[in-house]
Amino acid sequence: MHPVIYYTIIFAAVISTCHGTPINSPNNCGYDACNLGQPDKLNVHIVPHTHDDVGWLKTVDQYYYGARNDIQHAAVQFILDSVIQALLENPDRRFIYVEIAFFWRWWLQQTEEMQNTVRQLVNQGRLEFVSGGWSMNDEGVTHYNSIIDQHGLGAEFLRDQFGECGRPKLGWQIDPFGHSRQVASLFAHMGFDGLFFGRVDLQDYAERNKTKQMEMLWKGSSNLGEESWLFTGIIPRTYTPPESFCFDVFCDDEPIKDDPQLHDYNVPERVQAFMNAAHDQATGYATNHIMMTMGSDFQYENANQWYKNLDKLIRYVNAQQVNGSDVNIFYSTPTCYLYALNKVNRTWTTKTDDFFPVSLNPHGILTGYFTSRPALKRYERYSNNILQVTRQLNAFSNITLRNAIFPLSEAMGIAQHHDAVSGTEKQHVANDYAQRLSQGIDSALYVINEAYKKLLSKENQSLPVPTQYLCQFSNISECLPIEGQDSFTLTIWNPTIQSIENIIRVPVTKKYTIQSPTGETIAADFVSISLPIKNIPGQTSSAQYELLFGTQIPALGFNTYYFEAKADATIEEKSTIRVTQNEACVLQNEHLRLEFDDRGNLNSITNRDKNITLPFSAQGLYWYTSFQGNNSLPEFQSSGAYFFRPLTPNPLPVSNSRNITCTYADQVQKALIIYNEWACQEIRIYDGARITEIEWIVGPIPIEDGIGKEIIVRYDTDIQSDGTFYTDANGREVLERKRDYRPSWNYTVYESVSGNYYPIPSRIWIKDNQRQLTILTDRSEGGSSMHDGSIELMVHRRTLYDDSLGVGEPMNETAYGKGLVVCGKHFLLLEPPESSAFYHRNIAQHLFMSPMGTYALPNVSYANYSKIYRQTWSALTESLPYNVHLLTFDQSSSKVFLVRVEHYFELNEDETFSNAVQFDLQILFNRLGRIAELVELTLGGNLPLNEMKRLVWITNHNESSHWKSTDPNFLTSTVVTLSPMEIKTFQVTLQ
Ligand SMILES: *[C@@H]1O[C@H](CO)[C@@H](O)[C@H](O)[C@H]1NC(C)=O
Ligand SMILES: *[C@@H]1O[C@H](CO)[C@@H](O)[C@H](O)[C@H]1NC(C)=O
Ligand SMILES: [Zn+2]
Repeated sequence: MHPVIYYTIIFAAVISTCHGTPINSPNNCGYDACNLGQPDKLNVHIVPHTHDDVGWLKTVDQYYYGARNDIQHAAVQFILDSVIQALLENPDRRFIYVEIAFFWRWWLQQTEEMQNTVRQLVNQGRLEFVSGGWSMNDEGVTHYNSIIDQHGLGAEFLRDQFGECGRPKLGWQIDPFGHSRQVASLFAHMGFDGLFFGRVDLQDYAERNKTKQMEMLWKGSSNLGEESWLFTGIIPRTYTPPESFCFDVFCDDEPIKDDPQLHDYNVPERVQAFMNAAHDQATGYATNHIMMTMGSDFQYENANQWYKNLDKLIRYVNAQQVNGSDVNIFYSTPTCYLYALNKVNRTWTTKTDDFFPVSLNPHGILTGYFTSRPALKRYERYSNNILQVTRQLNAFSNITLRNAIFPLSEAMGIAQHHDAVSGTEKQHVANDYAQRLSQGIDSALYVINEAYKKLLSKENQSLPVPTQYLCQFSNISECLPIEGQDSFTLTIWNPTIQSIENIIRVPVTKKYTIQSPTGETIAADFVSISLPIKNIPGQTSSAQYELLFGTQIPALGFNTYYFEAKADATIEEKSTIRVTQNEACVLQNEHLRLEFDDRGNLNSITNRDKNITLPFSAQGLYWYTSFQGNNSLPEFQSSGAYFFRPLTPNPLPVSNSRNITCTYADQVQKALIIYNEWACQEIRIYDGARITEIEWIVGPIPIEDGIGKEIIVRYDTDIQSDGTFYTDANGREVLERKRDYRPSWNYTVYESVSGNYYPIPSRIWIKDNQRQLTILTDRSEGGSSMHDGSIELMVHRRTLYDDSLGVGEPMNETAYGKGLVVCGKHFLLLEPPESSAFYHRNIAQHLFMSPMGTYALPNVSYANYSKIYRQTWSALTESLPYNVHLLTFDQSSSKVFLVRVEHYFELNEDETFSNAVQFDLQILFNRLGRIAELVELTLGGNLPLNEMKRLVWITNHNESSHWKSTDPNFLTSTVVTLSPMEIKTFQVTLQ
């Protein structure tokens, strides 16, 4: 297979000029193309739009083509065909488009003539792209790395095809199930001037409508100041038209019947109804401009039906102005509406917290999706890990195979959609997302192999580099390619810019000696693989043991370890491994001490360096009973894919008795705690580790009793947390949460548990003066602190009823004919508050960019292997600061790279590392060449930063959002300064 052949067509239509020349028309897009209404009228911006889910009830392919219309009638290709024709018929008409995953497919199928026609519409501001990500990403469970990537992917396509007129100017997040401050900050750094969305908590909505605060200035970061502020508007009715004004083929509303000769003539009635709707909507908004979203899910397949009625509506409503009507209506776009608000020259209230969680009815709170489909959530995060590693390998080996990475980038862009990683899609669609990621990884593996052909070969050696295998089931101790082999290699790439110490676990059928890259024999533990792992359905490995050994992988580089089966199987067993059953036990290394009683309770964790102890009154697996109702009224709301609604606020222990097995080896000490046949946890401390690893295995969750169950891991301590806990947003900045409280309105509690759940994409903590317990996750989970001193994380759920938001299926995943078994990890850090960030910030970066191992079967002796192949390599010849992370390292063409570097500490978190940091970007390129040109770009990578001009907004405290970037004088220097939480994006051109 030669995947590269398939993928070179993908951006084949790329035009080298960034500014597509308009045909016969003035370049009049963006704010220049806006109708700003009339100062003394109520100006109604009519915004025709379609909301095209990149998969939900149907797969993205089915939606594009209009397949399986029996599930849902929806066909994106015809929407775009139809809208373009309708726009050509009347130059006043406007349309916005959002999801580039769809638009890109359509574009590749158009003739050059049609493409030019569309370019003209874009250049005249008649067709406008908003947001412009590959999908409309979820905001709760997504990771910032992938949000940036998916926006970058769409932005790159739009820039290449449409130039400046195709550059989106605002975020359009009308459907996601809550809104993240981190996303607002990222959008501000993409150069967006505003953000509109449709879903907020119903209590929040009512209050804002009453006080005319539907629009505000959101301070997106507590670290980055004005540059992170984003004007934010809540649109009414989520994103649908006012009642009785839906003219789509999906709707039954009356058309405008404007022949006065006919009995059904309805113009006066329709005009009056519209003016009433406009005035009603205007009560919640602060200016004499309002926006009406004329469209909904997959609408405009017959665009003519919409536009013909809207043309008439506009004509007849405005005709009443001569009779004194104050309503002025016209075709517009969200961008023009935003610009009109900006021109109103008023001040705006501000917001500093976020929009989580969102309740749609008093008992329907969108917190179930924080955990729904935990395996897909992990697979998505893992796929990103591979994507970033592959980009680095592609760049450092200079093989310019970016096109072969595209399938994984694309699959990741699709996976960010608010019905993808969120877990709110139908089962067959979830399967499709996973398959796309899997195929993307296959293609990435081709790139990984091509890269290692160069990186592993020593100069003057022409022997082929053996094929590298990714062992994607390593998490369940399975790696079939090496099973039973007499020798194999493991090459591990470290994608971070600091060297990393790791314990590696390799599933094996027999004993091996391990040679380090420098030829020493490495001491390893030979430990049995636990029964709960062996029992996971689909685990087909015959390996009964795993080898554990310590490694140190160089920064941005690799090490290769060589494994050779021990010739003499009678070699002495290592006698140091000790196992106890159902006895009290103590796991201990130089930094940590964990005490368990003989009934499997974790009694305490001690940080021996800091001399602090955390007693646990309880720790382990519990379950909530899912509420089962018919959804006919809020009180009958079921728990399901979107909503988490427990029957009672008190979770039950998964089991009252447990079995505990403690194992003491050199590299690891661990306690396996088995609750029953479907739930266990293994608590480990590795040699030298400062964090405790808790692996949980849950499933098949039993439902034979007819009861849905939502499983949590709970940690009950004596920390005096005073109703307060801390949760991250998209893996980055952390927000303070208070139980039963919302910072921006007077909160009435209807659901005491679900209303306190927040998305935990990477970490949650509680603290008192001496101790902070931070728990990091390996994927997004829902979590909370329901009692002082307690943290809980929901790891898996299985419900038996649909929750009535459209998906039409219960959240009931199965595999191998049984309820799905899921495993994952929590990482516990116990530190004083002042030293916590130093560790958890760094650990979190290493979790989403983990070392990536590939196995190979070289069929040569170690002596020969070390002669022929390079066994260690680093891209760095100098070290880089601890508080800098390399987020993106992507080769665009042989001499051009897109690089993102970030400061990953917040202000005032760490005495040393919460300060600004400076380093020379050249260090990243020392192996590749000298930097000839450096251009700082917006976060999306589609505009030089010095060309970014954002609209200025004033707060009601007279603060101005005006922000001037420090003048980048880059041609003279490659030294970069980053302040806390800053991400900088560069286009780097080498000599
Ligand atoms: C805002 O509140 C007013 C008064 O209660 C109501 O008439 C109007 O429909 C509300 N607006 C929206 C968009 O919900
Ligand atoms: C905007 O408002 C400020 C203060 O409210 C006023 O000083 C200024 O002249 C106004 N600008 C315009 C263009 O109306
Ligand atoms: Zn949607």
